Amino acid sequence: MKVGIDRIGFSAPNRYLDLVDLAHARGVDPNKYLTGIGQRKMAVPALSQDIVALGANAAEDALSDCEDAEKASIGLLIVATESGVDQSKASALFVHELLGLPDSMRAIEIKEACYGGTAGLQIAADFVRAHPGAEALVIAADIARYGLNTGGEVTQGAGAVAMLVAENPHILALEERSVVRSRSTDDFWRPNYSAEAFAKGKYSEQVYLEMFAEDWREAESLGLTQVGDLQALLFHIPFSKMGRKGLRSLESVIPITDYERLRARFEKAIIYGQDVGNLYTASLYLSLISLLEQDESLYEGDRIGLFSYGSGSVAELFFGTLQIGYRDRLDRTSHEALLATRQRLNMNEYETIFNDSLVTDGSRQDIEDGDTTAPHALVRIEGHERCYR
Ligand code: CAA
Repeated sequence: MKVGIDRIGFSAPNRYLDLVDLAHARGVDPNKYLTGIGQRKMAVPALSQDIVALGANAAEDALSDCEDAEKASIGLLIVATESGVDQSKASALFVHELLGLPDSMRAIEIKEACYGGTAGLQIAADFVRAHPGAEALVIAADIARYGLNTGGEVTQGAGAVAMLVAENPHILALEERSVVRSRSTDDFWRPNYSAEAFAKGKYSEQVYLEMFAEDWREAESLGLTQVGDLQALLFHIPFSKMGRKGLRSLESVIPITDYERLRARFEKAIIYGQDVGNLYTASLYLSLISLLEQDESLYEGDRIGLFSYGSGSVAELFFGTLQIGYRDRLDRTSHEALLATRQRLNMNEYETIFNDSLVTDGSRQDIEDGDTTAPHALVRIEGHERCYR
């Protein structure tokens, strides 16, 4: 039975900071951000655009043409995030209500840093294999937040990707065999008391590359890499240079014609992420959307590899095949418009939004709507409860 991604969509905040402005403000050569880090812009979420709102909006995008009867066959909803809004209640339950999904299903939240989206996807695929006829909705949603004037500031961002996983998928059939490894590392973490992540930046890059090399070697020994057949290789992209370093590590390992093909496709796969920034759990999947919408040369039946990395750390290399008619399930025009029509913030506006925070004393706070055109937003917090539109 073929199982994989049947529908896909994303959402991103409607405001951004141009990284040249950030570079000037921080006294850094803009080329460090544009070339050294490999990013152009980063999305800046308003308080109303938390991961529930971003995740639900991504799901609306993915399910926009989906009949009610198909929604009724969703038996599992997973929200993967490392920017959750509650220590107990799953953000999936807020999303479940916002989307009007049936009660007769499981709705849960999972976490393992940026790997969570892939954990969700693999669990969803196993669920569909075990329950013929059932579908699963996986949402990866995050706000990457390191703090003003930190080394990680330029690698912030926000957004969400939603994927419907089903039998006989229309976009990407997933292979059951993959290579995965888990190892406790302290490269990046966010304690419960902190709104910002901490990272040992260079060490995190080192672990990412080591685990990619180990995954690649193991996949090779299992006969899974077959680079001649691999039409594209996607990476978790906290910033595009990180994925580029992963790909470059193969330059002396695989034939040059294969490397050049993967490199050309990599350029298409980073287009959206370079303008949105790090989406943690969703970064790899925004890269998938970018590749499929921006690359005109891929064909149905082409095989692609996906490398997922979550600090802490879990790393998985897995594979899929593009399905007949996959282009019909994409929406390049509206996604390009979404990114092109965003509002550019100046430094003062960015820092004001960054420092804005929700009340924590149980009082009522009406939250200014950052994007009245989006279907869902956090509108109020009162008595420690969150209310959404
Ligand atoms: N022109 C062109 N390039 C320049 C330049 C200039 N004027 N000045 C510097 N550069 C280059 C540097 O040579 C360097 O390139 P290489 O990485 O190829 O060597 C690059 O710009 C970065 O500069 P620095 O080495 O000075 O790095 P930094 O101290 O500013 O830190 C960072 C960069 C480590 C990525 C930091 O932003 C950070 O800590 N980010 C958060 C952690 C992170 O994203 N880690 C990724 C792996 S973990 C993961 O993937 C999970 C996740 O999502 C967090």
